[in-house]
Amino acid sequence: MSRKVIIAGNWKMNKTAAEGKALVEALKPLVADVTDADVVVCPPFTTISAVVEAAKGSNIKVGAQNIHWAESGAFTGEISAAMLKETGIDYVIIGHSERRQYFGETDETVNKRIKAALAADLIPIVCIGELLEEREGGKTEAVLDTQLKGGLADLTGDDMKKIALAYEPVWAIGTGKTATPEMAEETHAFIRKTLNDMFGKEIGEGVRIQYGGSMKSENAQQLVAQPNIDGGLIGGAALKADSFSALVHNALTE
Ligand code: PGA
Repeated sequence: MSRKVIIAGNWKMNKTAAEGKALVEALKPLVADVTDADVVVCPPFTTISAVVEAAKGSNIKVGAQNIHWAESGAFTGEISAAMLKETGIDYVIIGHSERRQYFGETDETVNKRIKAALAADLIPIVCIGELLEEREGGKTEAVLDTQLKGGLADLTGDDMKKIALAYEPVWAIGTGKTATPEMAEETHAFIRKTLNDMFGKEIGEGVRIQYGGSMKSENAQQLVAQPNIDGGLIGGAALKADSFSALVHNALTE
């Protein structure tokens, strides 16, 4: 089954509205030729509107980095699905390891956020991944199994058609240590098998699984060439138009 490649930039807590606008203006002509992949940028909340405006009429799609599950109410500092939808975005990153590590995100809250995103017609990019000590302790598959079963609990096959997953080994994020293409593929294949077991092969084979963790233009081609790696979730290399564009183009080189 052919799955459309998706390359998403996770800007994290970087880029003011003016900086984000400038980045997208610079990126637009560089990726204008990309028709066979989804190119997404995920700025901080306060930068979203400027970026949506700058990306208008281009092939660049926009996403958020988090979402709250409640419709509205007394949740100081949080942002709802309807608020995000109204800004004109299409995607939302959910369960990034930094949210799990620093902000108490659990598989249960990931699950609630996915449901809220789907109800608002936003495409969740759901992040999973193991810590270094979990990999070294031989627990990678058990950790991912728990994250998948908990995070995707009660979702239907139709829901899964609207979701992308991002496998991000936590030890590879922002460290310059990338999983080798073979190591990443082995883990992606395990994730695929788990999805097939949970939702049936027809659904599981259709889910896009992005790789994240020190992906850059130099290693993008080899990673995305793997049968079960369908794109990337990019931090550092997404913060400059030329490095992000180079990565996107290399990822799409046969
Ligand atoms: P990195 O971040 O590319 O800087 O390693 C990836 C991510 O955290 O999504």
